[in-house]
Amino acid sequence: MAVRPVRLEIKDLLVGYNSQGRQTIALKDVNLKVGDGEFVSVVGPSGCGKSTLLRVVSGLLKPLSGEALVDNRPITDVPDHIGMVFQNDALLPWKSILDNIRLPLVIKKMSKAEQEKEAMRLIRMVGLEGFEHFYPKQLSGGMRKRVALARTFAYDPSIYLMDEPFGPLDAQTRVVIGEQFLKMWEAVGKSVLFITHDIEEAVALSDRVVVMSKRPGRIKAEFTVDIERPRPFYEIRFDPRFRELQREIWESLSEEE
Ligand SMILES: Nc1ncnc2c1ncn2[C@@H]1O[C@H](COP(=O)(O)OP(=O)(O)O)[C@@H](O)[C@H]1O
Ligand SMILES: [Mg+2]
Repeated sequence: MAVRPVRLEIKDLLVGYNSQGRQTIALKDVNLKVGDGEFVSVVGPSGCGKSTLLRVVSGLLKPLSGEALVDNRPITDVPDHIGMVFQNDALLPWKSILDNIRLPLVIKKMSKAEQEKEAMRLIRMVGLEGFEHFYPKQLSGGMRKRVALARTFAYDPSIYLMDEPFGPLDAQTRVVIGEQFLKMWEAVGKSVLFITHDIEEAVALSDRVVVMSKRPGRIKAEFTVDIERPRPFYEIRFDPRFRELQREIWESLSEEE
């Protein structure tokens, strides 16, 4: 694989929380690089500091020491060029599906005609054609997740940060949305830092999977997913190399549980 320029660099992070007079160290000695256009997933036991890591990278939380850099610049506050999809999808309830997806395009000052065209393209990509004038509360959890995904792609940040975005969905919906997400990502090819507790999802999507230790979390192992793209998101699970990686990652992770 060609060497990619580094987009995101995490250096010697030490992160703690103060609550009730006690300090909890959530992350210690965390080092990680994400290359341009690289898809990196993070798996780790519950409470090991995965969400904390994304909070630091998104500028919402200051580390005790160490730093996170995007394009060689330290992240000081919430930067406008990185985008986040959380587990709960944070749609605006008073806006239609179309207007929710259009919001980032309005902020980008796209013309009204272009906004409409791009939003409708994304609505079709996530399979929500016909629902554009519905409101979030009229949709299922899976459909709302599709809206959130379409909105992220409308925003099209230089780094996608995703914290268990498909977490609350049932297994079937996860596969369908994962497949749409993979297709959309393959078309834009941006850097992604993706948190999941699902090893299969991590391997199917990623160029690299990193495993975190239990708290205080650090990167304990790293696996390169040397499976060619484009990949069929579901069928790839029957590939012998996929199975092998899945087992190795499972073994690494199970030492931490
Ligand atoms: N706001 C907070 N105040 C105090 N402790 C916190 C806070 N948020 C998270 N923690 C602690 O930090 C550790 C890592 O949390 P988190 O990053 O949410 O883990 P993960 O996402 O891997 O499940 C946990 O032990 C958690 O209890
Ligand atoms: Mg979390």
